[in-house]
Amino acid sequence: MLNDILKVLVTEKELREKVAELGKKISEDYRNKNLMMVSVLKGSVVFMADLMRAIEIPCQIDFMSVSSYGNGTKSSGAVKIVKDLDHDLKGFDLLIVEDILDSGRTLDYIKHMLLQRGVKSIRICTLLDKPERREANIVPDYSCFTIPDEFVVGYGLDFAEKYRNLPFIGILKPHVYSTL
Ligand code: IMP
Ligand code: MG
Repeated sequence: MLNDILKVLVTEKELREKVAELGKKISEDYRNKNLMMVSVLKGSVVFMADLMRAIEIPCQIDFMSVSSYGNGTKSSGAVKIVKDLDHDLKGFDLLIVEDILDSGRTLDYIKHMLLQRGVKSIRICTLLDKPERREANIVPDYSCFTIPDEFVVGYGLDFAEKYRNLPFIGILKPHVYSTL
């Protein structure tokens, strides 16, 4: 698996430090609120698992699954709810936890859908942000790393469902794409 990586973009140490810092900030910002962290499966699970342990105030978690990408590297544009949240969101301060904000279409859709469920507030927290690729009018409230327009894998992010278990964020060698 490591042989397929061209370059490490964000190291394990950088991830650890940024997530710890963000956890502290969110703990302060949500001190007197009713925090519910919502993870969008599957890409954000690693970030979610680390971030929730860096948060020092009581919070609840929930998961939803949407389909946006197939096995390739281009967005299909279509957003389908594959698994909805389990909780009633009334009165919660929602923090949507995402792996990457690319075109922003997925999060734009999810945010508007969840806003209709009686929540008190919604903010967006993304590990990675690719602002050059933005199509929807959406800006993250919390973002750990701004990255160039390159397809990245690791720390939850996949290419054709693989590489999610890499502990860092990396760029794949071009031959990996061409053999698909
Ligand atoms: P958006 O709707 O275009 O913002 O797409 C967001 C989703 O696309 C993310 O949650 C990822 O699952 C996927 N995605 C976008 N860019 C990448 C990437 O560079 N590597 C892996 N997945 C990506
Ligand atoms: Mg995702």
